[in-house]
Amino acid sequence: MDLTIIIPTFNEAPNVAELVRRIQLSVAGTDAEIVFVDDSTDETPAVIAEVAALATMPVRLLHRDDPQGGLSGAVLEGMAIARSDWCLVMDGDLQHPPEVIPTLVARARRGDVDVVVASRYVGDGTAHGLANGLRTLVSRASTLVTKAMFPIRLRDCTDPMTGFFLVHRPSVVPDELQPRGFKILLELLARRPFRVAEIPFDFAERFGGESKASLVQGFRFLMQLAMLRFGRLSGFALVGGLGAVANIAIVALLTSLGMSYLAASIIGAEVTIIGNFILLERFVFSDLREESGSTWKRLWKSFAFNNIESAIRIPIATAAVSAGIMHATVATTVTLAIAFIVRFTFHSLVVYA
Ligand code: GDD
Ligand code: MN
Repeated sequence: MDLTIIIPTFNEAPNVAELVRRIQLSVAGTDAEIVFVDDSTDETPAVIAEVAALATMPVRLLHRDDPQGGLSGAVLEGMAIARSDWCLVMDGDLQHPPEVIPTLVARARRGDVDVVVASRYVGDGTAHGLANGLRTLVSRASTLVTKAMFPIRLRDCTDPMTGFFLVHRPSVVPDELQPRGFKILLELLARRPFRVAEIPFDFAERFGGESKASLVQGFRFLMQLAMLRFGRLSGFALVGGLGAVANIAIVALLTSLGMSYLAASIIGAEVTIIGNFILLERFVFSDLREESGSTWKRLWKSFAFNNIESAIRIPIATAAVSAGIMHATVATTVTLAIAFIVRFTFHSLVVYA
């Protein structure tokens, strides 16, 4: 087999038949297969099965009942079962025109690269299918920031956020990847050096259905970027920073409503501890969750630890200030910095053991 076309799908029923029709036309004469990796909650799997039965090329369906790693995880599972070492990844909504596939394949056949990227931002490529001006701006800006963060690894790639590319499977090392969110190509390129070529394409409008991009995906992308570049500690710090802001806001709100400072502080602290835990679960330690017992057990460990930590830290800081060893601001900063490192270590080694 010369080519495996991997298509992650989440509720794309109206697009499947047209997608397969256009792929068949564009790869006619190539020994190719299509693998749908589907996490849908609607009738998409049934539609895929129907279309597969009538198709003139092999169409396989991997439906995941327990989707791990979202879109990126789906792509990696598709690669794992691909019959060809050349894996083409594309969206299931026809924003990636199948007619470009032969150009990508021809470029790969020259044999000097590991990945051929279909880019919106090279040559006469366009991003006109981005629904609105705001998304275009966000896409442009995040591409710039991302390239600035990985100047060497992304040197030859103008569109690391694209979901349309052809990759040689032997150059992918699944064990070193932590798939999360939408940006699988970025994850691949950032982790190890690839030889990259690019082909321009027109990012079209969606054929049917709705986009699955969301604010949560945007936040997940920021976390992925921080953690790819600066490690897990930076994701932990980002969540901690958000928690501190939320804590201050809660205390301000409750005291302005007439609650005592002590009561407001306790509520602010407990709400943030639980809120932080939820964010850590979803965005920072999502890859370690499975091997570390039940959610309730982790929540309990995290909750108990944070409370004990505060109960120790605050009296120590208070004592240092009243003994005249440190100024209050210095005492708070120093004890919080130590607590941050201890908290991170505890969560990495005990909560997510
Ligand atoms: N299996 C699986 N699981 N597929 C998913 C999931 C998931 O959790 N979430 C989304 N998909 C599928 C969709 O069904 C679609 O085929 C593809 O992934 C892309 O999702 P869209 O909802 O169409 O996202 P988009 O158009 O906003 O984003 C696309 O373009 C961006 C460029 O602006 C993606 O290709 C992004 O990766 C890309 O950055
Ligand atoms: Mn899309």
